[in-house]
Amino acid sequence: MPAVVVMGAQWGDEGKGKFVDLLAAQAEVVVRATGGANAGHTVWANGQQYKLHQVPSGILYPGTLCVIGHGVVLDPAKLIEEMEYLQAKGVDLANLRISGGAHVVFPYHLRLDEAEEDRKGANKIGTTRRGIGPAYMDKFARVGIRLVDLLDKDEFLPKLTAQVEAKNQLLDRVYGMTGFKVEELAESYLTYAERLRPYMANTVELVNDAIDDGRNVLFEGAQGHLLDIDFGTYPYVTASHPIAAGAIIGAGVGPTKINKVLGIVKAYTSRVGEGPFPTELFDQTGDAIRDKGHEYGTTTGRPRRIGWLDLVMVRFACRVSGITDLAVPHLDTLAKTGVDTLKICVGYRLPDGTVTKEFPVGLKALGQVSPVYEELPNWEWNDSLAKVKRLADLPEGAQRYVRLIETYTGVPVSILGVGSERTEAIYRTEIFGA
Ligand code: IMP
Repeated sequence: MPAVVVMGAQWGDEGKGKFVDLLAAQAEVVVRATGGANAGHTVWANGQQYKLHQVPSGILYPGTLCVIGHGVVLDPAKLIEEMEYLQAKGVDLANLRISGGAHVVFPYHLRLDEAEEDRKGANKIGTTRRGIGPAYMDKFARVGIRLVDLLDKDEFLPKLTAQVEAKNQLLDRVYGMTGFKVEELAESYLTYAERLRPYMANTVELVNDAIDDGRNVLFEGAQGHLLDIDFGTYPYVTASHPIAAGAIIGAGVGPTKINKVLGIVKAYTSRVGEGPFPTELFDQTGDAIRDKGHEYGTTTGRPRRIGWLDLVMVRFACRVSGITDLAVPHLDTLAKTGVDTLKICVGYRLPDGTVTKEFPVGLKALGQVSPVYEELPNWEWNDSLAKVKRLADLPEGAQRYVRLIETYTGVPVSILGVGSERTEAIYRTEIFGA
């Protein structure tokens, strides 16, 4: 019985939520192991739309254990808000489990995120301003406060006092901003802790037990490969590890326990935030894809930057994370744009004229490549195609598109997305099969 990691193979927003949600139907445990309230998953189920940020998408299946692992930086105020939103929609939270090892996001992290972005001006990263970077900075500076600390007032208050003093000095002296009062933060965070206490558990034991018992465990990735702190387009990245390895660190399982890594590759590319983007489109085609694909940030509402599918970056993601299967959503979106010819980037031309399949390490080098495209004819779409269950029943153009992705990456496309509903997908291989 496999343990499967689902991850984004581009810049995030690949539509992971839908696939996690689809696979959650077969999973007994769904784990969120990295990132925080910066992530946003939009899932359609039972004709309703759900916007999820910190709660694993598996929550929409009664009986599925949903785990928030210790690799997450948790914003308790936002998590409680999300829990209440779900409960109001009739979703049962009895199976939610949260690791005490998760680091906690405080309002000073959010303010520092804002302050630092504003200070950078034109050089800003374009963060979600959810305090993610500053919270991970505290974690790695070994001054962070973990959820478990909040359960013990004597443990929590001195740590909070030290942090508020330090952050107030930073806010005042470097950014000229007002700080926070320890008592106010303490009061709200102790209240949050009591609200979350019933959900806290030793998630390392839970997840390892589930794997050892042969149950289906799904690790739900957040963000995407190119936003990884080590392998992404640094510094225009998030502060955690969206690559497959992030799931095992953030959940506390060994690499030998993972059976499959499913990489999600949208049929085109999008990104939010700043940084180079070789296949970016600035014309009406880009606008048409944004419009038909509803490409606006779930977390921030920002219009996403849009470009052609870039297989150089997808190949890079496949290598770094050992991706065993790909899922390709939004095949319908490309068709719906009505554009005659589609382009797929199959190489980067360097300033000296040579063409490479290697993704450059340096940001300057990435800014200097020009994409080499293969062109394929677009295909007609009608709504009945959203019900199709075999690749062979899709238009020839869509089949060629999928075959090119497979040939280039050497990884099979096991799932295709042909509509926004969770049933509108084609499975070519059982991900939770042998
Ligand atoms: P941060 O994670 O808020 O620090 O933002 C760092 C970078 O990651 C920015 O470019 C964000 O737009 C991007 N980012 C963070 N979370 C997501 C996500 O869930 N989808 C897409 N981009 C994201």
